[in-house]
Amino acid sequence: MPDLAPIALGIETSCDDTACALLDGASRVLASVVSSQLAAHRPYGGVVPEIASREHLKNWPAVAEAALATADLTIAQVDLIAATRGPGLVGSLLVGLSLGKSLAFALGRPFFGVHHLEGHLTSPFLRSEGPAEPVPERFVGLVVSGGHSNLFAVAGGRVATLGEARDDAMGEVFDKVGKRLGLPYPQGPRVDELAERGDPAARPFPVPSCGGSLDVSFSGLKSQALSEIERIERAAGPLDLGEIARRGEEPPAMVLDLLAGFRAAAVGQVLDRVERLHRAEPIPLLAVSGGAAANRLLRRELEAWGVERGVALRLVPLAFSGDNAAMIAHAALLKHRAGHADDLFLIEAESRIALETPPILR
Ligand code: KG4
Ligand code: ZN
Repeated sequence: MPDLAPIALGIETSCDDTACALLDGASRVLASVVSSQLAAHRPYGGVVPEIASREHLKNWPAVAEAALATADLTIAQVDLIAATRGPGLVGSLLVGLSLGKSLAFALGRPFFGVHHLEGHLTSPFLRSEGPAEPVPERFVGLVVSGGHSNLFAVAGGRVATLGEARDDAMGEVFDKVGKRLGLPYPQGPRVDELAERGDPAARPFPVPSCGGSLDVSFSGLKSQALSEIERIERAAGPLDLGEIARRGEEPPAMVLDLLAGFRAAAVGQVLDRVERLHRAEPIPLLAVSGGAAANRLLRRELEAWGVERGVALRLVPLAFSGDNAAMIAHAALLKHRAGHADDLFLIEAESRIALETPPILR
């Protein structure tokens, strides 16, 4: 029986998912439970912050119990506690952080307040089964989610931002385009699925260049997609893909082509920045994470790019691409191994925090 210590309990409540995970000392995921609040927010067409906080509080006991039962552990066997401290919805963060601090205080265990992006950034090294791969000294992190589209340089535990979204994040534009077509939240995965069936060459979108920087901009692509939808509606009448799906029908080919063109340009832009960076300074290893890292085209294109350029690639396992608590516990274990712990009486929930704030991964 391998030595499992220290057992880490992670809590993630930065937005609308209530998540709890248990990892062993080798960052093997023993349990990762994510409870979605989609049903509670659906009538409002988006996440309502106050409802999110209340749902976290309501869902937590069942989520934590399910995680402990899956890992076959009791709370007394947990050696350290970690919770997301930001960025995110402050009311939601406060629920998870307060739960984490209370548990750490009551059990007399060390506590870690984790930056949400630090969790995503190191999540590609988690494995669906078995211990996590050691996080390399130097790598480039690409984080694409509903709130971020960032390129980070990680070296010796320090993180520097190389490029970021100038407007909407990648996942956010997939959601907005899908919403305009009548799809329910989160629209990103559904838009991706529909785009698989379209022809990207039928209605190509230009790839924004952001003047040669490593930043990305998705709002132009979004506006172009929205005006194309309007053009199709003027010719063919209102489009409601939710209703079309309920009737078991196939969306018009024109719409599938439009989504394929939109997705190809969105992914093309990310690939362009990765290539631009690699040309300026060879990338030692590219670690890709965040909810939008589930995008099928992005995964295929990055894999092909990595092979072509000889760059090692770590794509986050799909189980840990969207928000989850395993990545939070993992980031905390990395800090713990490096001898750090946070003062639970000082750590605060913060809706906005830069990732560069002092050495984070150690
Ligand atoms: O990381 P995440 O769960 O939450 C944030 O930290 O934002 O990311 C959620 C985002 C949503 O915008 C969702 O639509 C998007 O990731 N997403 C996708 C795909 N799967 C999830 N976007 C594009 N293609 C996908 N397959
Ligand atoms: Zn996230």
